[in-house]
Amino acid sequence: MNFPESLIERLRQARRIVALTGAGISAESGLATFRDAQTGLWSKYRPEEIATAEAFQRDPKFVQDWYARRRQNALKSMPNAGHLALAKMEQRAPEFLLVTQNVDGLHQRAGSKQMVELHGNIHRFRCFENDCASENFDVENGRCRSCGGHLRPGVVWFGEMLPVDAIQTAVEAAESSEVFFSIGTSSLVYPAADLWRRAKNNGAVVVEINKDPTPLTPLADYSFLGKAGEILPEFARQIWIRQSGGAD
Ligand code: APR
Repeated sequence: MNFPESLIERLRQARRIVALTGAGISAESGLATFRDAQTGLWSKYRPEEIATAEAFQRDPKFVQDWYARRRQNALKSMPNAGHLALAKMEQRAPEFLLVTQNVDGLHQRAGSKQMVELHGNIHRFRCFENDCASENFDVENGRCRSCGGHLRPGVVWFGEMLPVDAIQTAVEAAESSEVFFSIGTSSLVYPAADLWRRAKNNGAVVVEINKDPTPLTPLADYSFLGKAGEILPEFARQIWIRQSGGAD
């Protein structure tokens, strides 16, 4: 795939790059996305049945088991070329922030460090009843040892607030970015789906990489429809390898 020279040049000159990712970047690692109808996680259950405090209150074991399966799937999967390309971008760009909606931990395993997890992390736990700070958890049996309560996944559920520091960091970075990538996300869930606009309103170039069109597609400066695991490594190659002239 050949990218417009103007975009490659812009990326070479860019000091501050922000990349927002969604479930699509983990699809090539074998993890189901949320809204891809044929395989989406929600194809079996509606979000309200699982990813809410009410669902957990109603049947903690059912919700704990669903997340335990997703946790195992995440641990069994490997970061793909898209994750690795973003970790490389972080090493090469003067300033780079990864903002992910994903909770699978694959970006960290690919080497990304400068990142915020807007929706938490499935490999972390919290005490559901009292949010006990001690983190004295019996993960095996899904219980908090401090108060005997249930363990919930350390992710943001529907109807819950996002971690304030994470969204604040993401907004500030988007507003000061020169290039903003939106990768593997349907751009439907807010406030993540609003970050590109904040970047654009402050003069950033907005680049979408997604398998299917989204509401952002007609509004982005550039939109590449395809697999992140194929497009991102090609981007990194054309920006930095050709520049340095040598092999990576
Ligand atoms: N490469 C690039 N994009 C892909 C790929 C791929 N290999 N495979 C799928 N996609 C795209 C799909 O076209 C879709 O637009 O990834 C997007 C995934 O969209 P969703 O399933 O809606 O996932 P996401 O955007 O991350 O959802 C946002 O919604 O349910 C909540 O908290 C959950 O974080 C999630 C949030």
